[in-house]
Amino acid sequence: MFLSKSSFTNKLCFKAKQFKQPISTNLRSPSKPFLVSQTDQNLLNYCIKQSSPQPEYLQAIYNKTFDTLPNAHNMISPLQGILLSMLVSLFKPTTTLELGCYVGYSALCIAHGLNNSLLNNGAHIWTCEVNENIAKVAEENIQNSNYKNNITILKKSAMQVLQEWDSNKKIDFAFIDANKSGYLDYFNVILERNLLHQDGFIIADNTCFRAQVHQLDPTCSDLPIKQVQNNSNTTKNNSKVALHIYNFNNFVSNHPKVEQLLLPIFDGFTIIKLKN
Ligand SMILES: C[S@@+](CC[C@H](N)C(=O)[O-])C[C@H]1O[C@@H](n2cnc3c(N)ncnc32)[C@H](O)[C@@H]1O
Repeated sequence: MFLSKSSFTNKLCFKAKQFKQPISTNLRSPSKPFLVSQTDQNLLNYCIKQSSPQPEYLQAIYNKTFDTLPNAHNMISPLQGILLSMLVSLFKPTTTLELGCYVGYSALCIAHGLNNSLLNNGAHIWTCEVNENIAKVAEENIQNSNYKNNITILKKSAMQVLQEWDSNKKIDFAFIDANKSGYLDYFNVILERNLLHQDGFIIADNTCFRAQVHQLDPTCSDLPIKQVQNNSNTTKNNSKVALHIYNFNNFVSNHPKVEQLLLPIFDGFTIIKLKN
């Protein structure tokens, strides 16, 4: 039951590979000190090269989104997509809830990882999206896939979906990838309403948000907190997002009912499970 997104550089590496183009550093977003972009790009290329490739239809959706939509960096990276597919193929969730659909790329990566027997026996992915125009694109992508019977887009806010979710229908895998300001509340509702299956998992993406979140923790930062907040490389909005994620991470790590692992990969992602 599980996982998430990453760095723009990572995506570009993947795109470059698909089209056999050199990786253009000019294309790199100026404001993206993401985790992976700080590592050796050759190493990243090597990892992509040595990983099983995604099927072409997923690559095509990914590339088309980059070519046609302004916020394509919202998507998880292809390498993360492969990770999601791999994880669900291992853990076989039958009920998946994704918060934050965008164009359906990650939902399709999850569906791709489920085996046919699960897909034919009711495995389902519910994914929600508040932006109606984006939801239309997602609908088109899903309708054109082999998974139209296995993925449902709920055009509602993540909070509404969670509040209306039937608590008898336990979630095996919850992927949190919507607005970062809502992460803490989404997690809290899942726990308070007891929506997660005892053996289920939650994965939250972007939990190191642009390598800014840890800098808010005085024990893990070299910078005085004021300097972090006034950092000229950090926009006000990004600082707010980092603070939301900081509070979310603290809330999760202090929660008595869960165990969690925050991995410093991609843009940071956290795997959470209920304690045994
Ligand atoms: C990071 S993107 C999701 C990317 C997607 N998981 C993927 O990797 O392909 C976040 C999406 O959540 C949507 N969103 C933002 N706030 C939301 C909310 N309160 N409820 C549901 N969706 C929301 C945004 O419109 C955006 O499309």
